Amino acid sequence: MIKKCLFPVAGYGTRFLPATKSMPKEMLPVVNKPLVQYGVEEAIEAGMTTCAFVTGRGKRSIADHFDISYELEHQIAGTGKETYLQSIREVLDKGVFTMVRQREMKGLGHAILTGRTLIGDEPFGVLLSDDLCLHAEGVGVLAQMVELYNEYRCSIVAIQEVPMDEVHKYGVISGESLGDGIYRVDDMVEKPAQEDAPSNLAIIGRYILTPDIFEHIERTEPGANGEIQITDALQAQARQGCVMAYKFKGTRFDCGSVPGFVEATNHVYENYYKND
Ligand code: UTP
Repeated sequence: MIKKCLFPVAGYGTRFLPATKSMPKEMLPVVNKPLVQYGVEEAIEAGMTTCAFVTGRGKRSIADHFDISYELEHQIAGTGKETYLQSIREVLDKGVFTMVRQREMKGLGHAILTGRTLIGDEPFGVLLSDDLCLHAEGVGVLAQMVELYNEYRCSIVAIQEVPMDEVHKYGVISGESLGDGIYRVDDMVEKPAQEDAPSNLAIIGRYILTPDIFEHIERTEPGANGEIQITDALQAQARQGCVMAYKFKGTRFDCGSVPGFVEATNHVYENYYKND
């Protein structure tokens, strides 16, 4: 059983300035729900009821969101407005929320290593809330990946095909196809130039990691911009044949970018909210 999911939420969200000057990117609402709540719901659905946040300065509203707001609860108790709180109440009933602060933003790999103290020595999920993943039939991406983990017992990265002129924004994998959208990864490159990319299979913000990843991260030298990349640590695991890639079923919106965020908002409004 994978019980814990790590949420690295310490980034600055510069692409959303000025909105993110004093407000976490992860609290931006897609229609009426903050991005991070979509992520937490996906993790809980996959059985990962301990949600571990790697936060930073200015992110306190995330901790408050996953706590009771007594004054508000009292104010609207017994009124029709209580229905608006239903989804977050369900999340609070099912989940346990833990936090640690990443004091310096030294990259996703470093953020994950910072979360080690909350995870311990067990496999765990990682979910980047700015990648919003929706699945029409209701099986979330992390739940799909847990099924795969139970079969292969090694680290898994979610991938999607992207146009070649966009590979430079992603970690990109190459590997042997085992059918059903599953690959055994033999190489991965972080943000390659189009001509150096081994494929157009890009890693998106969903991972299941085995705990030996922490030692690999510790051995990883900082790469571009002085950041410790998770891709480099995963590559070390891949060399031991222990990383699978999975072309997930569903739609992903890059809500870390303004166009992706707007697209997600329109999609959720049209498909999930409008006829509520
Ligand atoms: P991004 O690079 O997409 O997020 O990192 P960002 O830095 O917040 O956004 P921009 O590029 O400035 O607009 C991917 C994820 O990793 C987390 C971010 O919070 C985001 O969820 N992250 C990144 C950390 O938690 N710590 C880091 O040091 C870096």
